[in-house]
Amino acid sequence: MGYLSNMKAVIPAAGLGTRFLPITKSIPKEMIPIIDRPMIHYIIDEAIQSGIHDIVLITAHGKESIQHYFTRSHELEDRLMKSGKEEWAKDIKRIGESCNIIPVIQDQPAGLGHAVGCARSVIGDETFAVLLGDDMIDTTPYPGVPACTKQLIDIYEKQNMSVVGVMEVPLQDVVKYGIVSGPTVSDRTFKVQSIVEKPSIKDAPGRHAIPGRYIVDPIIFKYISETKPGKNGEIQFTDSLFQLAMNQGLLAHEFIGDRYDTGDRIGYLDATLTFGLRRPELKSALIELMKKHLKD
Ligand code: UTP
Repeated sequence: MGYLSNMKAVIPAAGLGTRFLPITKSIPKEMIPIIDRPMIHYIIDEAIQSGIHDIVLITAHGKESIQHYFTRSHELEDRLMKSGKEEWAKDIKRIGESCNIIPVIQDQPAGLGHAVGCARSVIGDETFAVLLGDDMIDTTPYPGVPACTKQLIDIYEKQNMSVVGVMEVPLQDVVKYGIVSGPTVSDRTFKVQSIVEKPSIKDAPGRHAIPGRYIVDPIIFKYISETKPGKNGEIQFTDSLFQLAMNQGLLAHEFIGDRYDTGDRIGYLDATLTFGLRRPELKSALIELMKKHLKD
């Protein structure tokens, strides 16, 4: 349990969100709602369900609304209580108390590796989790299965080695992800021998993609600082992970869970429908709406 209570999570949320323009001109992508809560709320819930309390939020100027959302609002809580809306007041209070957000500014969107590197002084010399701010992994349909990050923490504790969460993707999709391959260690887990960022179909070492969950040794900060900017001047996290894999070792674990790329419009709509249909108060009205649109 020692690891669980102490481990911090880094959530990079300082990107430009160009796939979601024009709204991301003024609203952080991570604050776009899935039903009635921002997508980053679901990601922070996953960290909390994994036993993590301290969240290092990598953010950018103009994206302050993310940290405001996770800060307590006593005035709103009081007003809700006074107007008899106790349940709402409790829910709002819970959001503000659920975790400890430590904001760190990334002064320019210089890539995911650079974003993670910004957490160095807060993380220090401890193994930490990384959860991308726009990738949702839903384990609700799998009763008894822990949150994705918890699944990775369990592997880390057993093997004492850094680990990335992976999922198998169709061959035509390898071009969108970091792709890894290597020899099997145990059921659903293999040792990373090859790792390529967004390979062409013919150069892909396999079909196991990294969607955005990692448990990494702090030595990664040294590799990030040594990584030269690649495509678009960005410091790729994958390049630093490659160094980690070659020197200290890196595992890949095929997690159980449904992943939604909510930074992409179709992934976002998919998540909205899934989570909407799961809400008892919305389900039948939403089904009626879908039937109506399918008829048109
Ligand atoms: P993405 O590539 O999905 O985010 O990075 P993006 O750059 O905001 O989006 P597009 O591709 O332009 O639409 C994954 C996560 O890493 C963060 C993003 O905020 C996102 O949550 N990120 C990315 C940073 O924090 N800093 C960066 O320099 C790049």
